Amino acid sequence: MAKKTILITGASSGIGKATAIYFAQKGWNVAATMRLKEDTAMPDFEKYPSISIFNLDVKDNESIKKAVSDVIQKFSGIDVLFNNAGYSLAGAFEASTDEQIRKQFDTNLFGVMNVTRAVLPHFRERKAGIILNTTSSGGVLTFPLYSVYNSSKWALEGFMEALQYEVRQFKIVIKNIEPGTVKSEFVNNISFVSNVDYDHYAQKVQQNTLDSYKDAATPESVAKVVYKAATDNSSKLRYPATSQAKSAFFFRWLLPLNMFNKMVSSQAEKEIKR
Ligand SMILES: NC(=O)c1ccc[n+]([C@@H]2O[C@H](COP(=O)([O-])OP(=O)(O)OC[C@H]3O[C@@H](n4cnc5c(N)ncnc54)[C@H](OP(=O)(O)O)[C@@H]3O)[C@@H](O)[C@H]2O)c1
Repeated sequence: MAKKTILITGASSGIGKATAIYFAQKGWNVAATMRLKEDTAMPDFEKYPSISIFNLDVKDNESIKKAVSDVIQKFSGIDVLFNNAGYSLAGAFEASTDEQIRKQFDTNLFGVMNVTRAVLPHFRERKAGIILNTTSSGGVLTFPLYSVYNSSKWALEGFMEALQYEVRQFKIVIKNIEPGTVKSEFVNNISFVSNVDYDHYAQKVQQNTLDSYKDAATPESVAKVVYKAATDNSSKLRYPATSQAKSAFFFRWLLPLNMFNKMVSSQAEKEIKR
């Protein structure tokens, strides 16, 4: 049987990198795409000849088109697209600039739309294709200081949930991978904004949030969920990808929204004196 091919965005680290390695170990061709800059620390894929690296910045349409076309040419097709690249802006909304908010949406939402639009004609032609997306538990729930990140991931969840209807006729399936906290570069790359009036609140809440990373899942465990989503032949939309996410979704299902919100703030805002 011909080897299957997955195109992954944001494969330079974390979930994307772990997924590239896991799929290669499972015998897939992997197009590990990433922003190739002069200072890019290249991931160590040498042990995996079926992984090839391509330049793709989700904010740059030309790089998207070139990467998609190069991957199709090299592997004679793409079976699975994994929209994974993303990062978080965090902190007091009032302190975020228009530019910072737009960059968050350019990466987490418009970037995914652009990559998806570049791959859809190929999937339609083949009458097959799976689109996986790393959303987040923060794409279904909300957390203090993450209003911009949460809204970008909620938009992504909504976009993909709506898109699934119209592409089903071409046998294209969409699935959202929803992790809670994961040990990766994500937490180090959080772009944190604040101003003096929020500092007392913001510093404590952010510290409590960072503390929750001690129970974070590994990228490798998320990669296994991605593999399941790519191979289980189901049309299920949502894949909670860590135990933290599963338990948060359970409480959100169980409790009325105001009680759930109180539960979130009692965790995130603990030790804040008002
Ligand atoms: N870690 C968590 O706690 C967590 C929880 C829920 C959801 N997520 C989501 O999981 C996804 C992967 O994050 P991660 O945890 O693996 O963090 P990570 O280690 O920081 O990886 C993020 C990846 O996205 C890439 N990226 C960022 N902007 C990009 C752009 N404009 N074009 C192409 N690639 C870009 C990064 O590339 P560079 O190396 O070039 O920056 C990196 O490869 C993200 O969508 C994130 O929102 C993470």
